[in-house]
Amino acid sequence: MKFSTIAIHEAQEPDPVTGAVITPIYQTTTFAQHAPADMIAGYDYSRSGNPTRTVLEKVLAGLESGAHGFAFASGMGALTTLTMALLKAGDHVIVGDDVYGGTFRLFDKVLGRFGISASYVDMTDPANFRAAITPQTKMTVLETPTNPMLKIADLAALIKIAKEHNIITAVDNTFATPYLQKPLDLGADIALHSTTKYINGHSDVVGGALILKDDTYAAAIRFHQNALGATPDPLASWLTLRGLKTLAVRMEQHVRTAQALAEFLEGHEKVQEVFYPGLKSHPQHELAKRQMRGPGGMISLRLKGDAATTNKFLKNLRYFTLAESLGGIESLVEIPAVMTHASLTPENREKLGITDTLVRLSVGIEDLEDLREDLDGALKAAF
Ligand SMILES: Cc1ncc(COP(=O)(O)O)c(C=O)c1O
Repeated sequence: MKFSTIAIHEAQEPDPVTGAVITPIYQTTTFAQHAPADMIAGYDYSRSGNPTRTVLEKVLAGLESGAHGFAFASGMGALTTLTMALLKAGDHVIVGDDVYGGTFRLFDKVLGRFGISASYVDMTDPANFRAAITPQTKMTVLETPTNPMLKIADLAALIKIAKEHNIITAVDNTFATPYLQKPLDLGADIALHSTTKYINGHSDVVGGALILKDDTYAAAIRFHQNALGATPDPLASWLTLRGLKTLAVRMEQHVRTAQALAEFLEGHEKVQEVFYPGLKSHPQHELAKRQMRGPGGMISLRLKGDAATTNKFLKNLRYFTLAESLGGIESLVEIPAVMTHASLTPENREKLGITDTLVRLSVGIEDLEDLREDLDGALKAAF
């Protein structure tokens, strides 16, 4: 099966008893047993496993070309479980320097207390990654495209270095989605997702996922998924399963619209800089073309003017809603410096270029003309 067929048919045969075409929501906490510890269909308790979640996990595994999929109550639940399952006190992790603020916070404020140290490096140059390796380095966690600067890391090059040093590579593939980029096919050990974003795609359920090929890592993650308990409930699993059926068509539209808007913004007199991997001006444009099926639906831009101008711009937008998160069918706008990336230190934000006038757009699938007019009108009104 190819991508869209997997999304719609993997593990989703019509129900043999009722003929229901769509996977049921098994809204139950517990399951009857034939005899003590003799389960009817392998399920005993919905934290450990639930049939609706199982279907979601199989589809996620199929879409990312993995052998094992695990669903979680959030992207952070997925990352926490991954680190607890595969790391121990004394281990060192190399993390991308402009990962999602919550990922930074987990390593910086939580895992350090358990003896797991982290270095943060600019992954756009694999030499930086190589230089950060210590004898204790056990794992790397990186994003590409990054959030919010949309930098691209060369996955094949980084994975090659990681393999030379027996370092586990975990790629947060939330921004690209498996439709646009396949980390496991490039040799990564783990693909990580906030399914809250494009995979569910409708801004109505928070969730996360880990997908991998290796059976030993999978056994550890399965154990910790149950032991730590950050699992999605049956309705959340079902909503995510419903959302991801249209992932391919949504991504095609997100990319088409984002490319057109990025080109429009790049030529706009009120815009200082546009960050979008689909633009020829993007420093890793060629790498993005090689590594991804399309440059994605996220655009960052730096406005001319100051924080007050930026606020005025936000107030004058009609279709871009001021909100955190991304990857839904509706367009969103946010200011990373005070919203998604507020947990970074001010020095880090400055180093990365996350200024008060940096605006991040999550381009939805509304009509392109409406979105272009919306941005143009708000830019004009702001100045
Ligand atoms: C790239 C990325 N990874 C992980 C997360 C965390 O996911 P969640 O919010 O589902 O816990 C986010 C959330 O914004 C994200 O943008």
